[in-house]
Amino acid sequence: MKFIQTSLLTLLLIAPGAAMAGDIDELTAQCDSCHGVDGASMSSDVPIIGGQSKKYIFETLESFQDWARPCIKSSYRSGDTARPKTDMCKIAGGLSREDISALSAHYSSLPWLPAIQDFDAVAAEAGNLIQQESCESCHHEGGKALGGLGPRLAGQWKPYMKATLKFVPTGEHLVPPTMERSVTDFSDADINAVLDFYASQQD
Ligand code: HEC
Ligand code: HEC
Repeated sequence: MKFIQTSLLTLLLIAPGAAMAGDIDELTAQCDSCHGVDGASMSSDVPIIGGQSKKYIFETLESFQDWARPCIKSSYRSGDTARPKTDMCKIAGGLSREDISALSAHYSSLPWLPAIQDFDAVAAEAGNLIQQESCESCHHEGGKALGGLGPRLAGQWKPYMKATLKFVPTGEHLVPPTMERSVTDFSDADINAVLDFYASQQD
């Protein structure tokens, strides 16, 4: 009897943890088939999420649930690539608050692996100055920091950042008014230069 009681107790203690681990593996398998192994995206139009801040990942998934960001159709990049295209609003729509908590804890605990990508070194120098003046207040430490108002940008894919910034002036991607003003006021060349600066940070 004592043995049975002990086994039962062990089961009760282990079971919730085991169930959680199973769920997170299942959840991240879907994410990783677009965002890359451990969220280190190898596709220039899919953002790196491994090593991004917990708060940002959490809030972003909620924004997708509320359709506060554009819901771009995307194909799967690995695994069963014949699956029909889907988008982040649909994916986030299927997540519970607990899933979102678990996913943001998981991806924020992983290392940030910067994208190895081309950039214009001369433009990146000019971009560094614009970053310091107009972006540093929220994207701290040249865009490397996690604790600022805005997400980590240093080492993020430039094509992804360029594509998502197009939705700022149209109001489809909601960002703070100060950033919206900067992004709207700067020329395309200036914005490109800042993105080259972020792309140049590869370590
Ligand atoms: C079919 C491909 C696909 C799948 C599956 C997918 N994503 Fe995404 N995700 C994208 C694309 C493409 C974007 C960028 C485009 C956009 O903003 O809609 C994105 C954007 C994001 C962002 C915003 C990142 C940023 O820098 O702003 C987060 C966070 C995110 N996804 C998390 C997840 C999580 C967590 C899962 C799994 C539950 C997941 N994604 C599954 C393709 C996918
Ligand atoms: C007032 C604070 C603030 C300033 C200033 C600011 N940003 Fe942002 N930025 C944010 C926040 C907050 C987000 C996240 C918005 C969201 O919820 O999707 C963001 C998102 C972004 C993104 C999208 C990142 C991603 O992974 O999807 C890019 C690119 C970006 N900012 C570039 C810039 C650039 C370039 C500048 C300077 C010209 C700048 N920001 C200035 C706060 C700011």
